[in-house]
Parts: sequence; structure tokens; C-alpha cells
Amino acid sequence: MNLKETMLWRYAVKKFDETKKVSEEKLNEILEITNLAPTSYGLQPYMTVICSNQDIKNKLVPASYRQKSIAESSHLIVFAARTDINEKYINKFIKLTADIRKINVEELEEFKNMLINSFSKKTDEEIFNWASKQAYLALGTFLTACANEKIDSCPIGGFIPEKYDEILNLQKYNLKSVVAAVVGYRHPDDKYQTLAKVRKPNNEMIINIK
Ligand SMILES: Cc1cc2nc3c(=O)[nH]c(=O)nc-3n(C[C@H](O)[C@H](O)[C@H](O)COP(=O)(O)O)c2cc1C
Repeated sequence: MNLKETMLWRYAVKKFDETKKVSEEKLNEILEITNLAPTSYGLQPYMTVICSNQDIKNKLVPASYRQKSIAESSHLIVFAARTDINEKYINKFIKLTADIRKINVEELEEFKNMLINSFSKKTDEEIFNWASKQAYLALGTFLTACANEKIDSCPIGGFIPEKYDEILNLQKYNLKSVVAAVVGYRHPDDKYQTLAKVRKPNNEMIINIK
């Protein structure tokens, strides 16, 4: 399958086959690919929280407007924004960059100071909004990676973030949930797999300024 066929194969699954679980190996490969998503300045200001615990998934259903797919899925994945994008975090990022690229941190001094200066002027809300956009980009990459591995998925925006944060104890990790996804294998009875994709044609989606 080429990428276009893969994207036509995927759909937002509403009903999973509860008897089928995604293997650790496949999930790890999907997460490796997701980790290659670009981020603003390369700061990766989010974390990916994976939950396969049945009790916790069950608890998350009422916090997700009663979407049963959360409980029926193999794994729930929450993309959560970091709330600790500060000088310490930036210094660590600069050190990682210098180590990986085998250069002196001094060479990155100007970049580091620009980042520290820029983020010190932002409010927590501004940083959260910025970090959330990176989390969404990771979600998109994740959904594509799932399809590439023939793993079914559904993006989940219909949940109460504060409740997720509480149930998953995200504050402990300096995280706030942004958006989620469920993965697994489509149930043969899921009628959504037979529905035609609804997309506007490209000429209604694209403005081509020449
Ligand atoms: C950010 C985002 C949040 C979504 N939240 C939900 C959700 O909570 N529950 C659900 O069943 N589908 C959810 N969807 C799936 C969309 O409804 C679905 O992608 C859209 O209708 C297009 O259908 P397709 O993905 O099958 O092509 C979400 C999609 C996105 C991108």
C-alpha cells in the first residue's frame, strides 16, 4: 500500500475488537515514528502517555462523554503538554543537542539565550497553547504511523482534560492533557469502516497564489 492507500484505509474507529491487543513491538515502532515529528525549535514540549490498564481505561469513559471505545481499545494514548518549559528545561535541551551533534554548548549560547529570553516573556497559558500545537502535530504523525503499521485508531478530543489529568495523575509529571487517541483492531461490526470518506474536493480546500 502506498501512503495514499494507507490514508484511505484508516478511519476513525468507533468499535474495537476487545479480544485483540496491539503488540508492544508494533506500538514501540509507532512511537519511534511519532517521536520524529517536528516541534517548534525542536523543544518537544509534550509527553505521550500510554495506558493499557483496563480499570483506568474504564474510569476514563465517563470523563470522555461516555465513549465506550476508550474501554474497548487496546491502548489509550494521551498527548500531554509539559508545564515545565523553563530555563532548566532549555539548558537540558541545549546540552542534549550539543552532545548528540558533538559540539560545545558554547556554540549554542546565542540560541539558548534567545529561547530563555523568549519563553521568560510568555505566560503559562501562552506556553500551554504553544505546546498544545506540538501535541496535535504528534497526534497527526501518530495516526499516520498507526495506519502504516495496519493498526486501527481514533483521535479523541471529546474528553474533559482536568478529569484525565486527575485520573492519570499527570500533575505529578508536570503535564496537562491536550488530546488523545485510542488504538486497536477494528471490530467487524463497526459500521463506520464501510462508510465513504467525506472530504471536500481539493479545489475547495486549496488557494493557489501564483
Ligand atoms: C482532534 C480530533 C478529535 C477527535 N475527537 C473524536 C472523538 O472524541 N470521538 C470520535 O469518535 N472521533 C473523534 N475524532 C474523529 C473525527 O470525527 C474523524 O476523524 C472525522 O470525522 C473524519 O473521519 P475519518 O477520520 O474516519 O476519515 C476526532 C478527530 C480529531 C482530528
